[in-house]
Amino acid sequence: MVLPSGSRLPSLLQTLSLIADPIAFFDQQSQRYGDPFTTRVLGINSPPVVFFSHPDAIQAIFTTLSSKLELGKVTDVFRPLTGNESLIMQDGSRHQQQRQMLMPALHGEGLYRWGQVICDLTTEAIDRWSVGSVLKIQSEMLDISLEVILRVVFGLKPGSRYQQLQRLLHRLLEDINSPTYSVQFFLPPLQQDLGAWSPWGQFVRIRQQIDALLYAEIADRRSQGIHDRSDILSVLMSATDAEGQPLSDVELRDQLMTLLLLGHETTASGLTWIFYWLQREPQIADRLLQELDTLGEQADPMTVANQPYLNAVCKEALRIYPIALISQPRWTKEAIELMGYRFEPGTVLIPSIYLAHRRADTYPNPDRFEPERFLGKAKSPYEYLPFGGGSRSCIGMALAMYEMKLVLATVLRQVTLTRSSEMLPVVKPTRRGITFVPPKEFRMRVGDRRGAKVLVS
Ligand code: HEM
Repeated sequence: MVLPSGSRLPSLLQTLSLIADPIAFFDQQSQRYGDPFTTRVLGINSPPVVFFSHPDAIQAIFTTLSSKLELGKVTDVFRPLTGNESLIMQDGSRHQQQRQMLMPALHGEGLYRWGQVICDLTTEAIDRWSVGSVLKIQSEMLDISLEVILRVVFGLKPGSRYQQLQRLLHRLLEDINSPTYSVQFFLPPLQQDLGAWSPWGQFVRIRQQIDALLYAEIADRRSQGIHDRSDILSVLMSATDAEGQPLSDVELRDQLMTLLLLGHETTASGLTWIFYWLQREPQIADRLLQELDTLGEQADPMTVANQPYLNAVCKEALRIYPIALISQPRWTKEAIELMGYRFEPGTVLIPSIYLAHRRADTYPNPDRFEPERFLGKAKSPYEYLPFGGGSRSCIGMALAMYEMKLVLATVLRQVTLTRSSEMLPVVKPTRRGITFVPPKEFRMRVGDRRGAKVLVS
């Protein structure tokens, strides 16, 4: 089998350089070997791993070839957190069935009704910022994103259970991103509960407390009814599968933890990148402000979210540094032809979101932040894919885009954020969990208050 060219370095070295700095790895490999290129990474039998960025190849992987490909168990690492019933642990028809149950809750009218809550939660965060203070943007966005999940996804009302879950989830999400903790997820033999002071013991105890609160919430809702509620938990509680069966408590719990895990950090990171680009490109920030200033005080959340330049700024931030650099790896089940190559069974094919977004033939001057490129003709889903594609594409895309636009507009309309002198003008993305974000030292200073608030209806 003639594979696309690639590095001849030992697989250990290739793996280490991919882990140490994936963006540099992608840049170097694609410059040296073109598209597609082959990599050898350590693993069972070390199969060849081929990365693609051409829209035709990505389209084929997501659509026509999909029946000849299978998704590996890359998500297994999340099992201790999301449980066995989670959407991301399913394959085949069960996976499709679960997606069909989850999708309505995350799209359409019901979701858009949450716009005002998102704006209000953002306003509450802004009210806590004092003029002149310096903010760690990532941590502020994580706080807002967690509150949005508690309200919109979990459907919790402010109160004692809300506060307890907020505290516990905050701790859990911080812990799983720390190096000592995250290593345990990758190495199952380390997953030993040796008491409350052992790292895994701590994780298990926090998880138990969170589960107890979630099951109590589900029980309350089962006894009180879920009429007129449009939060995602309530919509899921009223959904039934093809056999007319509702989701069990364990299934509900596992889906909530999945949406939290995949929806919290990602959205906060997308927002952090937007603020980063706006402070680097003041003329773009000015143009966005001009657009928002035309709205007047009474603009409702949907009108705000429909502003074209606001949409373009959010899309461009997810293009230039996508939060996930790749779509899920696919293993070939049978030999397939793609881009003039024949790939034997067992080859791993990976659409590179990052490289697809940096193609100069799709995006002239790809390294420049230029929201204008999203004002004209729409890109195809194989040229622009920050939310992946195919049967496992992101189901939270509509919520993420809506939330990012509303949080951004609410902040910009109420307060001026300026570059903090402690911040370096150019930053390199750093890994945080499964996402790529500006480094922690990215801070902004709170300037003057501005008047406008997104409408409180
Ligand atoms: C800016 C924010 C977000 C980005 C960039 C993002 C990106 C992605 C990507 C790249 C994938 C994998 C797709 C593939 O392999 O092709 C994914 C999957 C997923 N995302 Fe998101 N996501 C975001 C927000 C959210 C939100 C808000 C939720 C839910 C509340 C969510 C829930 C999920 C779920 C459940 C999956 C797995 C789908 C499946 O396996 O069928 N994501 N996301």
